[in-house]
Amino acid sequence: MSNSAKLSTGGKDLEYPVLSGTVGPEVIDIRKLYGQTGQFTFDPGFTSTASCESAITYIDGDEGVLLHRGYPIGQLAEHSSFMETSYLLLNGELPSTSELADFTRTISRHTMLHEQLATFYRGFRRDAHPMAIMCGVVGALSAFYHDSTDISDPLHRKISSHRLIAKMPTIAAMAYKYSVGQPFMYPDNSLSYTGNFLRMTFGVPAEKYEVIPAVEKAMDRIFILHADHEQNASTSTVRLAGSSGANPFACIAAGIACLWGPAHGGANEAALNMLKEIGTPDKIPHYIARAKDKNDPFRLMGFGHRVYKNYDPRATVMQSTVREVFDALKVNDPLFETALELEHIALNDPYFIDKKLFPNVDFYSGIILSAIGFPTTMFTVLFALARTVGWVAQWNEMISDPNQKIGRPRQLYTGSTERDYVPLDKR
Ligand code: SDX
Repeated sequence: MSNSAKLSTGGKDLEYPVLSGTVGPEVIDIRKLYGQTGQFTFDPGFTSTASCESAITYIDGDEGVLLHRGYPIGQLAEHSSFMETSYLLLNGELPSTSELADFTRTISRHTMLHEQLATFYRGFRRDAHPMAIMCGVVGALSAFYHDSTDISDPLHRKISSHRLIAKMPTIAAMAYKYSVGQPFMYPDNSLSYTGNFLRMTFGVPAEKYEVIPAVEKAMDRIFILHADHEQNASTSTVRLAGSSGANPFACIAAGIACLWGPAHGGANEAALNMLKEIGTPDKIPHYIARAKDKNDPFRLMGFGHRVYKNYDPRATVMQSTVREVFDALKVNDPLFETALELEHIALNDPYFIDKKLFPNVDFYSGIILSAIGFPTTMFTVLFALARTVGWVAQWNEMISDPNQKIGRPRQLYTGSTERDYVPLDKR
């Protein structure tokens, strides 16, 4: 074998092929390991495991690189739009002018929800967390769109992909409207994808809603920054659900559920709540000490990342976007100053330097979203709205992969060995 990894175990000397991608770490192909050795690899959290082959997103954690189909996130955030980046993630190439127009028009034709779905919201308490509503309503889509759930049919896959990308803003805006007791707003397809979402969220039937261009641009950029991120926890959840043949609506609902966790997409809500708890910069040292204390479960939310061990390029763009939104809305949130001071202190503290903990995409997003007018409970909803295109692109890639099979990890069993049942009167 030209490029291989040698393993001696159980008295055997074995070789496994080392596979190379176009860029990034090579992989050791261990698909035959269990058959040849009767042994599993052991990798809780999959810190050293490649679960699939993919051509969509590449991350270099040491260099702070994030590419979507080869294009750096900083260039997409500066020059592209969420619709164009969505087309890129789904199709692999930047669209021509006519391709982008056709795609945008197609998406706009799916923005409305089946009218009966509105009744699902009325089954929730008004104070239900919007992510609970998202899990329920998105999962319920498969009850309404039977004509696009046959995953073996490429046309079904295409229609359900477009429906999911198009309807997430409508579903998200309705979750917000329900929580504040305002009437649902229907989509207005004369607006951009993001402008339509802002109007459905903050507009009311009683008045004309004017989209503020700087806010629309900032929101669209935030959607680009959240669109996809390789095989993160929620994307892996979507792939695992999809590997059983589950319909795409159910798979995306599973991804939403996973994203909700505070260690993942829930971190933007947790980060802003943490900044509110810290309050003023003079309180920062106390919280830094808590974050270092092994006996204290407190963590600096919005800091650290499984892959990025240098900086999260999305956080850099996010930080500059804060100023743009503050200037456009003429707001000045003292929490931003606290966030900047917290970042400065943390980045100069040996503990955080040694553990390579620095702001991730979730650290600044909450400050921007709060300035635009979203309650903290909506932050992860917005993350899910944007990440839907990444989940859908990864799901389509998995379904089309000839090597794909149902995901079924094994385990290191440490429970009881076989023993006989003991009747109740003998215990
Ligand atoms: C996202 O995977 C993705 O790509 C996710 C994401 C995407 O776009 O899909 O980028 C989105 O989820 C961003 C991350 C958002 N989460 C947070 O901000 C929550 C706070 N951060 C952490 O919980 C943590 O950093 C993780 C979950 C993000 C990463 O965890 P790892 O890689 O499993 O690292 P770890 O938990 O093993 O921590 C390594 C060490 C530990 O100390 P030791 O046990 O080695 O002594 O660093 C410490 C941790 O205690 N640590 C922190 C910390 N994060 C890690 N200490 C204080 N504050 C933190 N935030």
